[in-house]
Amino acid sequence: MDRVVIFDTTLRDGEQAAGGTLNIQEKLEIARQLEKLGVDVIEAGFPVSSPGDFEAVRRIAREVRGSVICALARAHPDDIDRAWEAVKEAEHPRIHVFLSASEIHRVYQLKKSREEILQMSRDMVARAKKYTGDIEFSPMDASRAEPAYIHQILEAAIDAGANTVNIPDTVGYAIPDEFGSLIEGIFQKVPNISRAVVSVHCHNDLGLAVANSLESVKRGARQVECTINGIGERAGNASLEEIVMAVKTRGDFFNLTTNIDTRQIYKTSRLVSDLTGFLVQPNKAIVGTNAFSHESGIHQDGVIKMPITYEIIDPRTVGIPASSLVLGKLSGRHAFKERLAELGYSLGETDFNRVFFAFKELADKKKKVADKDIESLVAEELRTVTEVYHLDRVQVSCGDRGIPTASVVLIAPDGQPLSDAALGEGPVDALYKAINKVVGVPNNLIEFTVKSVTEGIDAIGEVLIRIESNGVTYTGRGADTDIIVASAKAYMNALNRLLATKRETR
Ligand code: KIV
Ligand code: ZN
Repeated sequence: MDRVVIFDTTLRDGEQAAGGTLNIQEKLEIARQLEKLGVDVIEAGFPVSSPGDFEAVRRIAREVRGSVICALARAHPDDIDRAWEAVKEAEHPRIHVFLSASEIHRVYQLKKSREEILQMSRDMVARAKKYTGDIEFSPMDASRAEPAYIHQILEAAIDAGANTVNIPDTVGYAIPDEFGSLIEGIFQKVPNISRAVVSVHCHNDLGLAVANSLESVKRGARQVECTINGIGERAGNASLEEIVMAVKTRGDFFNLTTNIDTRQIYKTSRLVSDLTGFLVQPNKAIVGTNAFSHESGIHQDGVIKMPITYEIIDPRTVGIPASSLVLGKLSGRHAFKERLAELGYSLGETDFNRVFFAFKELADKKKKVADKDIESLVAEELRTVTEVYHLDRVQVSCGDRGIPTASVVLIAPDGQPLSDAALGEGPVDALYKAINKVVGVPNNLIEFTVKSVTEGIDAIGEVLIRIESNGVTYTGRGADTDIIVASAKAYMNALNRLLATKRETR
């Protein structure tokens, strides 16, 4: 069977989603998980865009083995040199050169002629080729360009050394049959096409990114560019989990495989959602919380009798734990470790000890600790690893009489405890003002949401916030059985990301 190369761009196009900023540690953590998931190519970033992005690509190139590590570059000499500088230590480095090709982009944005664009493509692919043998070329906005011009530009890029040519539907404008014909035309009209892998990169503005990608695969494309949970610019990119599971579930139709270890899908989806702060909609295919839950009596009856009546995928195939076993305060280290392993976590000794301690504290407050609680605990404990300031204590008084008051103790980077107090419009306002007095970084709170992880009065509450500082948005998450404490943790998480990013870009 033929294989489709999975090119993941969560860390580049995915991170371009408004409010999705990740710091270097978080990018590394996602890259390591992508490698475990088995993606063939990780597009780690756009090195020329910022010092932070450059450093993230460099660290990923150095530390993540197995997958190809790709750096994006415009068709400019400086971009290409910077991309190579960032990616050169990778086991398998790739440079991805892109340049607008449609008339709309040529006339209104680049103000360059067809000939100039053609020459730039040739020259810049050749420049990148001097650094590494693995070169990808993308004519941006290809789906709105004249097909004959795309054929010409691809031929030139392949002649100059590109071994993957990627066809972007940059603005999510294409319709599957039409996009499929464009791909088919490329195979028929580009004379040297057999020297390159044909790739597609589809955006989701009309909700057709996955459909367009699959249609292209049907017509011969053998690399698909996608992101975890479909995150990305505007309405996002094609979702990796949907493409991979469509190819696997409908093997009878596609007769194709991928290298993806599908049992890692759910965990990767949770990690990306957790670190970017983009919640997964409940009805999202493959990874939404409702994707495998059956409400209607007829469906439940069918699934009990024989799962395939209403379930086309066994949830375990994508790593959703089958059992709903609960742990409690009498559960020991061994049982907890086993449960973690079943949920797909393999923590080092120090991380395990922290999470186990948090589990014991939770089990004291809550009789039954479910899988979702454990996932929330792991995320919460691992979140605190990259802290600049640590939340030590928080005390809030509020009610319908009197003024809400909060006091906090934070541990500063030098280990000193720092405390302060503030009044506010409400308990969270008072709390955030008290923290601001200690940390002293101006920012605006632009989003605040609370949700419970499981059912029941003793459930863990998860708070998700976004703050804005100097035009950049930072996400924070916090979990606790007390939602005021969860709010404090979420705010500290966002502030720590802001501070870490400032340090990285200094
Ligand atoms: O959407 C797009 O065209 C891109 C290119 C850089 C491939 O992201
Ligand atoms: Zn894109």
